[in-house]
Amino acid sequence: MTTVVENPLRAGSRSEAQPQPATLVIFGATGDLTKRKLIPALYNLAIDGHLPPNFSVIGFARRDWTDEFFRNEMCEGIKEFSRRPFDQNLWNTFSQSLHFLSSNFDQPEGYKELQSCLDRFDEERGTPGSRLYYLSTPPSYYPTIIENLGEAGLSGRMARRNEGAYSRIIIEKPFGHDLESAIALNDQLHQVFTEQQIYRIDHYLGKETVQNILVLRFANGMFEPMWDRRYIDHVQITAAESVGVETRGGYYEESGALRDMVQSHLLQLLNLVAMEPPVAFDADAVRDEKVKVLKSIRPIRGNLVAEQVVRGQYDAGSVAGKEMTAYRDEEKVSSESSTETYVAMKLFVDNWRWQGVPFYLRTGKSLTKRVTEIAIQFKQPPLALFKGAENQSSMEPNVLALRIQPDEGISLKVLAKTPGTRLNIRPVKMEFLYGSSFGEDPPEAYERLLLDSMIGDSTLFTRSDEVETAWSFVTDILETWAQMPAPRFPNYESGAWGPREADRLLYRDNREWRWP
Ligand code: BG6
Repeated sequence: MTTVVENPLRAGSRSEAQPQPATLVIFGATGDLTKRKLIPALYNLAIDGHLPPNFSVIGFARRDWTDEFFRNEMCEGIKEFSRRPFDQNLWNTFSQSLHFLSSNFDQPEGYKELQSCLDRFDEERGTPGSRLYYLSTPPSYYPTIIENLGEAGLSGRMARRNEGAYSRIIIEKPFGHDLESAIALNDQLHQVFTEQQIYRIDHYLGKETVQNILVLRFANGMFEPMWDRRYIDHVQITAAESVGVETRGGYYEESGALRDMVQSHLLQLLNLVAMEPPVAFDADAVRDEKVKVLKSIRPIRGNLVAEQVVRGQYDAGSVAGKEMTAYRDEEKVSSESSTETYVAMKLFVDNWRWQGVPFYLRTGKSLTKRVTEIAIQFKQPPLALFKGAENQSSMEPNVLALRIQPDEGISLKVLAKTPGTRLNIRPVKMEFLYGSSFGEDPPEAYERLLLDSMIGDSTLFTRSDEVETAWSFVTDILETWAQMPAPRFPNYESGAWGPREADRLLYRDNREWRWP
């Protein structure tokens, strides 16, 4: 069996709570997410002893798979994608908890069969009747599945349940396509489930380094007093990917970088950096503060869109020596596509703490390298005391960089005198790296999120008002784009850092992007 090193960040957290027996129903279980992320995450939870006894999974999907076929596929998934190595003994037990039910999503009989399966498991195993429904299908099926769960009486909202038993629904992104569709989806969900039963996933919130933003800010005394417009010059949030759209051209054509990354992941990172200390570390208190940030973002509408938002699309090129095709030549992508694969923007959070501090966000595919980080750049000291120093050009400002991935960690750039008889100053880095400090890689986001949904802790999931406020900001930009002439795409080569215009967005403010 694999040896597990205790993670000190986890110790004492609510995740130490042990979830009670439950059944997880995965709708769309034949898709990539189940094989790559969900089952490997459950397997790692089993290694850590976090899976409750009598836990089972029912894969619900259209294909005609048997339990055995499902298990074999998931076994391959674990071998290829699990964080920890495959262990035959553990697999022998774990695989017995995996089952498959073949049905169309709009077939009421499928849901009846599901109901009897769930009841049978409860009876055979003496489990209390707790269920988690995971929607991992294309989003167009969400309404059908939610409606059928409601009609089959599976939502547990009305039913008299055993004490402590629960029904919860976990929903993958994208949650809606714009503000209107997000409101409609929330309305439909609320007809069948209460808000407390709903877990909207943004997998960035499950990343250990993202959670650490709050620990860094609120468990240390030294950062918070400097965390505002008096000391911070600006903030840069980067989520760069070196891959293109790969096999997801069809989805991406409908989405684009603004919907796919900014509406969810980037705004979540912004929330955590910009929010006020919550009154408690619980789901509602934390989410209340995040919503306040979203509500304070100055809308970008009309002419401001061209001034503050840059969009791009990748051309052919090469990333780390690998030839990349142009976006328009990707599978299931129109040869005249205007879909953006890159977005950079400047925004302001209009509140007391952040008045006048620009936040620069950028994300894109087929860029130079994969890196996600938040960089907080501090103002220069009020007096340039070391005017006599020889290399004035290296008098760079302090930067606190929170590296989300890869090489997870935190670094602080400070100026230091280089050894010698002359006054020579240059930047050096103080660094903390997860790998070396804690002796292990952080757990996968889905491990944490699945565990929290079983425990009933929704702190790391997005609330309905949060998702709608984020869409409201993004929809303004989408609507303006729709009225503008089609952009001249492609406008950046694969392997570059994005379009030139994105650089100009910062040059105009006498600033520049970091090259992390
Ligand atoms: C997903 C997006 O939510 O996040 C993808 O749909 C993107 O387009 C992915 O590639 C990035 O996630 P990560 O964890 O690799 O940064």
